[in-house]
Amino acid sequence: MPGLVIYGGKVDPVLVLAIETSCDETSASVLRTAALAGLGGQEVPRKGTRTVSGETAHVPLPDSGTDLGTCPSGTCPPSLVPATAPEVLSNIVLSQDEVHAPYGGVVPELASRQHIKTIAAIVGEALARAGVGLESVDLYAVTQGPGLIGSLLIGLSFAKGLAYYHKKPLTGIDHLEAHLEACFLENPGIEYPVLGLLVSGGHTALYLMEEPLSYKLLGRTRDDAAGEALDKIAKFLGLGYPGGPVIEKLARGGDPKAFPFAVPRTKDRSLDFSFSGLKTAALKHIREHGIVKDGARLFDFLASFEDVIARALVDNLRLAADAVLPRSLVLCGGVARNTRLRMRFQDFARQAGLDAYVPSPKMCTDNAAMIGALALKKFARCPDAVTDLDLDAYARS
Ligand code: KG4
Ligand code: ZN
Repeated sequence: MPGLVIYGGKVDPVLVLAIETSCDETSASVLRTAALAGLGGQEVPRKGTRTVSGETAHVPLPDSGTDLGTCPSGTCPPSLVPATAPEVLSNIVLSQDEVHAPYGGVVPELASRQHIKTIAAIVGEALARAGVGLESVDLYAVTQGPGLIGSLLIGLSFAKGLAYYHKKPLTGIDHLEAHLEACFLENPGIEYPVLGLLVSGGHTALYLMEEPLSYKLLGRTRDDAAGEALDKIAKFLGLGYPGGPVIEKLARGGDPKAFPFAVPRTKDRSLDFSFSGLKTAALKHIREHGIVKDGARLFDFLASFEDVIARALVDNLRLAADAVLPRSLVLCGGVARNTRLRMRFQDFARQAGLDAYVPSPKMCTDNAAMIGALALKKFARCPDAVTDLDLDAYARS
């Protein structure tokens, strides 16, 4: 398979076509790097030394984190990454919300069928809006996992077919790394080390990024993800799917202090999250106070539930920041669209004196631009990272 030489000769911009089908959004995006001649690379800033909140952290950090961003050949200089963000020429996202709404959650079989029906049109639309044809694409990128296996396989097979036919490289991208990348796509100058809080429908996790493309997992949810907890409570109350945006809308007029939720903490005070206890507490309040869809106390209840989730997330972020002393904070994933969470995140960053970044709302939820952006960064640093057509999907990280 022909490789592209990015550092060391290629003058023209590189065009990537990215595909994302990990769950219930069918998305395709075309991105273009700036001309790379003479770009060199970005020097990675040194590790920060400032203290964050001044509190003593009692957090045992893992001896070694999970470093997902390795170079297969081990030869690529870690500091070489493109200094500028790529240009997003198109980013088409077709949501399947209407398909799944009657069931109050994603039905995997329906999701894959919907991807099959729409993927060709979505890719066609992404190319048309970008004003390019497949013959101009230099690199294909596709979400490899984690996600629904049937859904992932649709995107993967489609991307493989295109890469094979057009004899172009194909790179598999981790969906969670791509969510973090969404922050860099809009803010390429974020200083390292970066502490990332990823909050989506399927995952809630904290990562330390000491340098570009290095991801150390510091903590993750032991049960439900934060988005999942919002979705489940919305489903229970018959409010619709996805639950996060509905709850946000209804909670706007409510009092977040009306219901006394305790902020959940794991017993060993690690950086892991746990939301299932909160869900049980919410169900208890619903029963005891007769909370119903059109009831008088619904808004207060939802505001309190939304607020305790935001507090739990930011509390763990604070503990992690005390432990790893980052220079910057990033918040990403679908739940990062939530205004209350964004405000609590920004408040903490201000108190701690740290730079903080959250993607624009459309970049928080699943989209293919974040997949393409990460593919270009990986490819720029390490053309060997290009995978062949044996690429397989994975359901879990
Ligand atoms: O990242 P994402 O698009 O998909 C996954 O990778 O899971 O996140 C979807 C999640 C859903 O749980 C949804 O309810 C939540 O993000 N979400 C929100 C908001 N918008 C989407 N949660 C709270 N407030 C919102 N405005
Ligand atoms: Zn996602």
